[in-house]
Amino acid sequence: MSAFTTILLETHGRVGLIRLNRPEALNAINTLLITELMVALEAWDADDAIGAMVITGSDKAFAAGADIKEMADASAADMRARDHIAPFDRILNIRKPVIAAVSGWCLGGGSELALSCDLLIAAETARFGQPEINLGVIPGAGGTQRLTRAVGKVVAMEMVLNNRTLTAAEALHYGLANRVVPAERCLEEALTLAAELAARAPLAIQAAKQMVNAAYETALTEGLALERQTFYGLFDTHDQKEGMRAFSEKRPPQWKGQ
Ligand code: CAA
Repeated sequence: MSAFTTILLETHGRVGLIRLNRPEALNAINTLLITELMVALEAWDADDAIGAMVITGSDKAFAAGADIKEMADASAADMRARDHIAPFDRILNIRKPVIAAVSGWCLGGGSELALSCDLLIAAETARFGQPEINLGVIPGAGGTQRLTRAVGKVVAMEMVLNNRTLTAAEALHYGLANRVVPAERCLEEALTLAAELAARAPLAIQAAKQMVNAAYETALTEGLALERQTFYGLFDTHDQKEGMRAFSEKRPPQWKGQ
């Protein structure tokens, strides 16, 4: 992949790790960062050598929101023309699992980015908030929508209307985070989880992710029908035959992603 300036990339076996890297701005998400992030995610999504991805920030901040300085002087027309939030929607199209490893500040667009991921490991130091109201605006990348679906209306109202910040323990309690771990173990925990997912049957993992996400987009009857057809569809894959044969033969399956 070409050189990036706002993110750092590493691979750990079948896991791709993206570190947000704008320390001078607490990883504030500017147009370049979201553009580079999506290029990296989409490249790994298309790469058979990668089975899952992790996005992380620094100890101090996962990301302190969209870059306020970049947009401060923009008009509404400028913002519509730039539409720098649009790349956030492309995260929905990533087929492989994406895990957020969150330490420190996870605010505004940073929180919205973390919420766009499929799983979230929070360090005890993580703090989640939607402080846009302090800037005279509202969240623009899912903070009124994904957050509300995740934590429920009353908590979302308090966060979005009154800048209530959640601790890591509260984020766990309200269903924003899968686990809370000591800060020094946060990335390791996320990488371990990602490696587990990357070792599973790739087509089934992708179908499973797609179906869980579909639960947010469809009525129940429609979602159940889609799930059933997807389940049946997997019976045309090598991995379904291998998985069920391996069960009968009492041996570990060898997945091919076919
Ligand atoms: N945009 C641009 N720069 C930012 C930034 C942001 N969102 N957050 C922090 N920075 C910069 C600061 O300006 C500062 O730069 P300078 O040293 O050049 O002044 C540097 O990062 C360090 O920040 P602080 O000195 O403020 O660090 P702190 O430890 O005192 O405070 C903080 C940390 C509480 C997170 C504070 O930086 C802060 O409140 N940041 C803004 C949070 C925010 O409002 N986020 C929402 C943005 S709007 C949005 O995200 C819209 C959307 O939905 C898409």
